[in-house]
Formats: sequence, structure tokens, C-alpha cells
Amino acid sequence: MRKKIKNNVDWVGKIDWELREFHGSDFSVNRGSSQNAYLIREEKTVLVDTVWAPHAREFIDNLKQEIDLKDIDYIVTNHGEIDHSGALPLLMAEIPGTPIYCTANAVKSLVGQYHHPEWNFKTVKTGDTLDLGNGKQLIFVEMRMLHWPDSMAAYMTGDNILFSNDAFGQHYAVEELFNDCCDPCELWYEAMKYYANILNPFSPLVTKKIEEVVALNLPIDIIATSHGVIWRDNPLQIVQKYAQWADAYQEDQVTIVYDTMWDSTRVIAHEIAGYINKFSPDTKVRVYNLSNTDKNDIMTEVFRSRAIAVGSPTVTNSILSSVSGWLAFLKELKFKNKKAAVFGSYGWSGEGNKELRARLAEAGFEVVEPEVRANWKPTREELLPSEAVARALAQG
Ligand code: FEO
Repeated sequence: MRKKIKNNVDWVGKIDWELREFHGSDFSVNRGSSQNAYLIREEKTVLVDTVWAPHAREFIDNLKQEIDLKDIDYIVTNHGEIDHSGALPLLMAEIPGTPIYCTANAVKSLVGQYHHPEWNFKTVKTGDTLDLGNGKQLIFVEMRMLHWPDSMAAYMTGDNILFSNDAFGQHYAVEELFNDCCDPCELWYEAMKYYANILNPFSPLVTKKIEEVVALNLPIDIIATSHGVIWRDNPLQIVQKYAQWADAYQEDQVTIVYDTMWDSTRVIAHEIAGYINKFSPDTKVRVYNLSNTDKNDIMTEVFRSRAIAVGSPTVTNSILSSVSGWLAFLKELKFKNKKAAVFGSYGWSGEGNKELRARLAEAGFEVVEPEVRANWKPTREELLPSEAVARALAQG
């Protein structure tokens, strides 16, 4: 299925309504996704990226309805990850020898995954160009660590299209394809979720890369991502949003995250939540139980928060494995400039809060002093510090 992007550029990807998980189970995909690939037909014919391996046959069959594969002059692989390169083995079996333009690191990732060192790789770096004919060119821009060392983008002169690959994308299936045609609430939520859960650790590099691209002063009419919508209505709005998100982003929100064995830690969570607006009436307050809430959605709420509280009962001298696993993920995401508090119940030894403090400090949070710690079922007296916790999170 082909969709026109602009002039001689068509979308030839896969809208993947069935997808529900990405990166194993590391990223929940609740609205489906897409693997966007593009076909440029100027004097030269260029395929930009492909699709995930399970869709390879369908992708190539669709492509054959558009062109004779032998007419493809060049393939551009902006990123070696399998969701974009997965159709290459089948494609290269049909058109061996077709040049594949990619970074030196992408040669490593592609050879490592597909074991075809004989493919005709043409390595490129920032500023290198590929002539398309009709007065148009592709200019390559390395996007190292956004989000793999092999990532790059390609800018098409004349039509002013930036093929940005993962950057500015979303796991969001939209037949409408363009940002001005879809539900903006869904779009912005999915764009933020993608940034928070995948790109946030690389925020300093996002800032530098945006400065570098802006300095090139290239007119950008369309940002053609590799997942989700294509930005054609004010495309720079997502670039501006990335600049904000990369700058230790926060909104006026406090998020409380916990798991509970027999409800005691849950009681503390809601006690703390109930005090936040006493000290900061306009602050948004969110409370999530890790055992029944999507972990990536919770991470998105943490991303937009200026403070969080994390609770767990003490279990075998430590914390619940659900909380422990979530904290490991939290540390990976390298959030900056956020406060945290701890709380939890215990029956016997009670080391849970100490463990939570250590783990949150390791994850880069400023852990405040007040905490709530309750033996067995919390008494009114044990719940009293909830107010001090709420004050510490709500203020400043
Ligand atoms: Fe969409 Fe990093 O692959």
C-alpha cells in the first residue's frame, strides 16, 4: 500500500495495528504502531528504510506492485534495528549488489544481525550527500545514540523532507498518517511516552543534535519519522517539544507509585496523595499501583512530574520484586531534577524504606527526609508523617 508524502516521495511502510509490545516487553504498545519506509522516485529511485521481519514478505510484494525492484538504485538504512532493517535479507536476495547507504556503525549492526558482509555497503557520515537527480540530493546527518550508535537521518533537498527515523516518532498506528489528521491528544501522549521511555537517557545528546541541525539552517517542510505520524503541519513543533523534553522536563505534578501485599502500603500511598493539594492546590496528583498499571504509562507520568513518592512493603529484608524491577527501569531512564520520597509497611524487620532510598538516590532523584513507615496495619499515629512527606514533595 502506497501513500503520497510529497511530489515523488511515497510512504511504503507497514501500519502495524496488531503490535502490543516492543523491545521485548520493555515498551507497551497500546495503540499499535507503524514501521514507516519511503520510496523516492526522482531520476534515481531510493528506498529509505524497510519494515520489521514478520512483515517483510508483504512489504516486498507491495513494493513490487509499485516498481520493478531492479529499478531501485540505492537503499538508505538510517538505523540497523530490526524493526527498520528486517526486510533487508529478503530484499537483498532479490537485488544483490544494490548499494546500502548507512553509517559505519550500521554496517556493524546489520552484519551482526544478518551475517551478510558481502552486501554493498556505502558508509556515510554527517554532511555526505547522495545525488537523486532533478536537482535534488539526500544529505546525511549522523544521529549517534539517538537512540543507537548507528542511527542517522537523511534530509532531502528540494522537497525539504527530513527522514528522521526513530527521532520524533511514536508507537501509534494511524491510517491518516499525518499529524494534522489524527487525534492530537493521542498523538502528543504517544510522542511523550516514546520520548520518556526510549529517548530520555540521551537527552543531553538530543539537545546538542537539535542545536546542530538548527545551525544547518535547512528549511524543513516535512519530518518523515519511522514510527507513527509524519509531521507536515508545523513540523518544527515536535523539534521544539523535544528541546523542552530534553531539558530536565517537568510539569506541576506529583506521582505516587507503589505496590502492596495486604493493603497497608496502599493506605499510605493514598494518605500522602490526599495532602499534596493542601500545600500546592494546583498540583496534579496521580497514584498508581504497579501491579495493575502499565509500567510505561507510569514512567510517562514520572517524566512529567516534578516529584514522586515510591512505596513498597518490606519483603525478605528488601522490597517487592515488582517495585525493584520498576526502579531498575527508572534508573536506566536517567531522569533529572526530580524529588522523591519513600514509604512502606513492614511486619518484622522493616528495611524497605532504606532500600527504596538507596535505589532512588542511585536513579538520580533528590530523596527528601520525611518518610512514612508503618508496622503491620498503619495506625493514625504512623500515618501522621504523610503530611510532612506531602509538604516536602509539594513545595519547591
Ligand atoms: Fe524503531 Fe530503534 O528502532
